[in-house]
Amino acid sequence: MKITPLNAVGAEVTEVDVKTLTDGQDVQLKTAFAQHGLLIFRGQDLAETDHLALAERWGQVNTNRFFKAHSDYPQIAMVEKEPDQQENIGGGWHTDHSYDQIPALGSILVARVLPETGGDTWFASMYRAFDQLSDGLKTVLLTLNAVHSAKHVFGNQSEYMQKNISQARMGRPDLADALPDPIHPVVVRHPLSGRPVLYVNPGFTLRFEGWTQEESAPLLNDLYQSAVADDQVERVDWQPGTIAFWDNRATWHFAQNDYQGQSRRMHRITIEGGPLQAYQ
Ligand code: SIN
Repeated sequence: MKITPLNAVGAEVTEVDVKTLTDGQDVQLKTAFAQHGLLIFRGQDLAETDHLALAERWGQVNTNRFFKAHSDYPQIAMVEKEPDQQENIGGGWHTDHSYDQIPALGSILVARVLPETGGDTWFASMYRAFDQLSDGLKTVLLTLNAVHSAKHVFGNQSEYMQKNISQARMGRPDLADALPDPIHPVVVRHPLSGRPVLYVNPGFTLRFEGWTQEESAPLLNDLYQSAVADDQVERVDWQPGTIAFWDNRATWHFAQNDYQGQSRRMHRITIEGGPLQAYQ
């Protein structure tokens, strides 16, 4: 098995079949995942049951509450866009599940149907987003918490629901509206590596705790812009057999919506995480 770091974030894993991982390879992958926050596997051939078995090596599967589920495997969330649909799922920088009290560890995304061109996914490192800040700003951020929410993304008033794009692809806005908005430290001690990560994101973070949204927006926007500066993002292209496994605590991602009139169908399995702690 060969693990090659990518330019900005993540590592590509080749010369391995994820259906038949040895215990030694498993340990190597866990170390690489903690270090890089993103593993891209190429040339794999996974049935749904193999996909589930791979996810279960890492923890308990989180069955998605909002995405359409696979008809035979409810633990698999369908991330789809059909030729007549304009909007994609995940077409903005975000990390999944920061709206949960105990956010998921990460997701394993498998390509099933790809457009002829386009449909790449961008990733950014939240290790790097924090490390690059000045000592002064780091000190301030270490004292802050932030409020996150699913309501504006998956709730009844969300864009997905209002634009009516999601009837077949998403559901249960009532569950998003009923979910209490969790408060997480702005700088989290990464549960696997122990390193500090910036834990706010444009998708789900509303504001700093004790600050209004208006007060929070300038600092949040500065953090967001510096996190996705040109040299800090990795563009991952999908080919048949590609798998992306990302860490929700250490990375953000963004699904490019540049394949109008074509289909893109992906299977996503999300793995439960543990409680988050402030990096103090
Ligand atoms: C997602 O945000 O989970 C979807 C990513 C993708 O489709 O590339």
